[in-house]
Amino acid sequence: MPGRQIGARLVAEGLALRYGDRHVLQGMDLAVEPGEVVALLGPSGCGKTTLLRLVAGLATPTGGRLLLDGREIARPGWALPPERRGLGMVFQDYALWPHLTVLGNVRFPLQMRRVPRRETIERARAALAQVGLAALAGQRPAQLSGGQQQRVALARALVARPALLLFDEPLSNLDRDLREELCGEIRQRLRESGATALYVTHDRHEADVLADRVIQLREGRVAGITVPKPPGDVDPPSEFSLVPPPAAAPRVAVA
Ligand SMILES: Nc1ncnc2c1ncn2[C@@H]1O[C@H](COP(=O)(O)OP(=O)(O)O)[C@@H](O)[C@H]1O
Ligand SMILES: [Mg+2]
Repeated sequence: MPGRQIGARLVAEGLALRYGDRHVLQGMDLAVEPGEVVALLGPSGCGKTTLLRLVAGLATPTGGRLLLDGREIARPGWALPPERRGLGMVFQDYALWPHLTVLGNVRFPLQMRRVPRRETIERARAALAQVGLAALAGQRPAQLSGGQQQRVALARALVARPALLLFDEPLSNLDRDLREELCGEIRQRLRESGATALYVTHDRHEADVLADRVIQLREGRVAGITVPKPPGDVDPPSEFSLVPPPAAAPRVAVA
């Protein structure tokens, strides 16, 4: 089992990115608590991937800064490299190495961290079993379906027990039934892992199923924050309501 991790605390302070005079992110403030799953929801082009790339260390901000567990990891002109941020990432296009087996793909983050060989194999096998792919360890990615490839990518993201997990529309290349199934699976793996997660999507349902908090982005800014109801948490019928609706509430005189 990949095991449980203490999630990182991620803070963005006035984070901004522009290309020339094109302002893609316009001063974003954000605090994601340890173990929290935050969905970033918004239409195409609003800056979701850009924000994720800044958090990953694949881009450098032009304004503001980023902190991970209180330590500055990015400011204008400087960014801590991705491999030193302790991240796991899952992208839309799977991004598996075609020349490696499934097991080889999942072992890779552990080899990068110089984990002993025997342990890389044991942990990669456990991570594959966790996503239901133990039997496919020896296959190449090209022999797998899209859903299976994305499960491999998930196992690879989780195997090194990262404190922060980043997802960029991981389900958008899959058909509907598979999306629903994998969405539930990612939710469960995230809860088990204890990692902090940023999950980019343009699908409101996916965001509500997965996240503790949904942050809506519009044109490079935070446009709203909502807290989805836990599954099964339904409003009671109004006749059982203990609190009178606002219209019936007694008026309070203001002097
Ligand atoms: N390297 C770049 N140079 C110029 N503009 C870019 C670059 N990368 C992204 N953009 C622009 O930034 C905006 C936000 O892009 P992106 O973050 O990919 O949006 P999203 O992921 O929400 O669809 C888009 O208008 C895109 O064209
Ligand atoms: Mg995108």
